[in-house]
Amino acid sequence: MNEFYTLNDGSKIPKIGFGTYNEEFKDNKAIILQAIECGYRFFDTASLYETERSLGNALKESGIARKDVILETKLWIDEMGADNVRKACDKSLNRLQTDYIDIYMIHWPRQTGADDENWKQLDAETWHAMEELVKQGKVKRLGLSNFLPHHLANILANCTIKPVVDQLELHPGWSQEAAVAFCKANNVLPMAWSPLGRGRENATIGNSILVRLAQKYGKSIQQINLRFLLQKGILPIPKASSPAHMKSNLDVFDFELCDDDVSLLSYMPQTAWLGEHPDFVIPDRKSNPANV
Ligand SMILES: NC(=O)c1ccc[n+]([C@@H]2O[C@H](COP(=O)([O-])OP(=O)(O)OC[C@H]3O[C@@H](n4cnc5c(N)ncnc54)[C@H](OP(=O)(O)O)[C@@H]3O)[C@@H](O)[C@H]2O)c1
Repeated sequence: MNEFYTLNDGSKIPKIGFGTYNEEFKDNKAIILQAIECGYRFFDTASLYETERSLGNALKESGIARKDVILETKLWIDEMGADNVRKACDKSLNRLQTDYIDIYMIHWPRQTGADDENWKQLDAETWHAMEELVKQGKVKRLGLSNFLPHHLANILANCTIKPVVDQLELHPGWSQEAAVAFCKANNVLPMAWSPLGRGRENATIGNSILVRLAQKYGKSIQQINLRFLLQKGILPIPKASSPAHMKSNLDVFDFELCDDDVSLLSYMPQTAWLGEHPDFVIPDRKSNPANV
């Protein structure tokens, strides 16, 4: 991987990262070791995923220098608020077995969904506590996850340290054009979670536009998805569990979609959304008290 985006603080980040949200990564460093072997150097995790420890174990065993990888993790909704942030960061550092996090994110903008009337204050308070972590050297830079324009605007209005990235669900069939445009207008790099639509049929083989473009370019549907995101200036973080998939997801720099096809993918029917709205739904996942 020698293709990079430049973040708004001037640092570089690989154009494709590796996602670790899945049961199979828990207590299992082998898959992450394979990803390192395939060339991934930017890894996404979260306290919620319970994969920070496996990631830390894999990095240690790989022998790769800490400075040569980018580790991104997130605090969950029950870790928001000034008092909780410092403890949450220390726990993540402990599980990752490192003394700094490259990108530390707020995972979700609203702690209790639509009932959360004080979300603006809580997000700002959480952010200020995260800014302290940067000053202490525990975190290099800050990011957001699932922040739509109104959530991001609140942070931008209240921050002294700007977010470098905003991680959103982005793929053909859920391209969130307005949110991506708002990120770009504010020099925040949009990052795509579930860039392959989590492999669901309507985001892959059941999608006739993607099937047709895969045939046209002689590439897989997944490679079309990733190329689409890259050409829109978005950083995808696909998850894969086999070396064949891992390698194929990096093999997307030798072809280019024409402008009409990028437009076709941008404006195709928006039917592939996974269904978790940051303002109304708190994902039905809880952090595990055993994950300390
Ligand atoms: N911020 C958030 O709220 C949030 C939410 C969800 C996810 N995320 C992050 O985003 C990452 C990626 O999202 P995701 O895991 O939901 O889904 P994804 O990356 O869109 O899709 C993963 C699925 O695609 C398959 N796949 C991968 N490469 C393939 C290839 N080349 N050919 C065919 N199939 C392929 C995988 O199968 P195999 O495993 O068999 O390879 C898996 O079933 C997560 O791991 C996590 O780090 C963040």
